[in-house]
Amino acid sequence: MNVFMIDSHAHLNDPKFARDLDQVVSRANAAGVEIIINVGYDLESSQRAVELASQYPGLFAVVGLHPHDAKTSTPEISAEIEKLAADPKVVAIGEIGLDYYYDHSPREKQQEVFREYYQLAAKLDLPVVIHSRKASRDTFNIVREFPQVPSLLHCYSGSLETAQEYRKMGHYFSFGGPITFRNAHKLRGIVAQMPLEWVLLETDCPYLTPHPYRGKRNEPSYLEYVAQKLAQIHGVSVEEIKRVTAENTRKFFRLPFKEENK
Ligand code: NI
Repeated sequence: MNVFMIDSHAHLNDPKFARDLDQVVSRANAAGVEIIINVGYDLESSQRAVELASQYPGLFAVVGLHPHDAKTSTPEISAEIEKLAADPKVVAIGEIGLDYYYDHSPREKQQEVFREYYQLAAKLDLPVVIHSRKASRDTFNIVREFPQVPSLLHCYSGSLETAQEYRKMGHYFSFGGPITFRNAHKLRGIVAQMPLEWVLLETDCPYLTPHPYRGKRNEPSYLEYVAQKLAQIHGVSVEEIKRVTAENTRKFFRLPFKEENK
């Protein structure tokens, strides 16, 4: 039985993949990555994610405005994102959220834009993909304002207690390269205590390249290293990790189910 993987958070819409995209997708497929969800961070990258989804059957798109770019938000951009979201291969709004580590946009503006796109997701009946860095409490408080919107905490870095609170609301968590980093003992300790039913796999490529490829451009074919580390942390087979995380991902994004993984 072939067990496929899903990369729940990639940026093949990033200019770093412009030159060799066909090869990157072929390598991903050869490595067993069946579906890749490309996440937008501004209008241009959201448009690109939708364009790629129309070109490759295994690619899907998420559209939104990253907290870094919250300060660039205009009603025109919001209207364009809403138009893009009508495409049948757009499966969520994101990545949206709060980033108090870089503070590239004023915090109040980040919060305003985060809420605005959450409202859009609620209106369109789509889930959201959340980026949160050094903003754990404020992120949690805004997420709580939208109990009807299924949410994915991408590259989760908060506490186990907060994760449990999110889970009570039915939300999910995705993990990538950082769980493979040599010094990530604390993160692995948290992941070890999270039931696999809560967890999705991601690369966040071209960023966060897993060990042993740190320093190189990340790509979906490296998802195997994340799956292997998660299997090791949980003491289960890598096939089990692939099966459960793919099922969680299909459920969260309401992707079509396939026989192979049942
Ligand atoms: Ni990302």
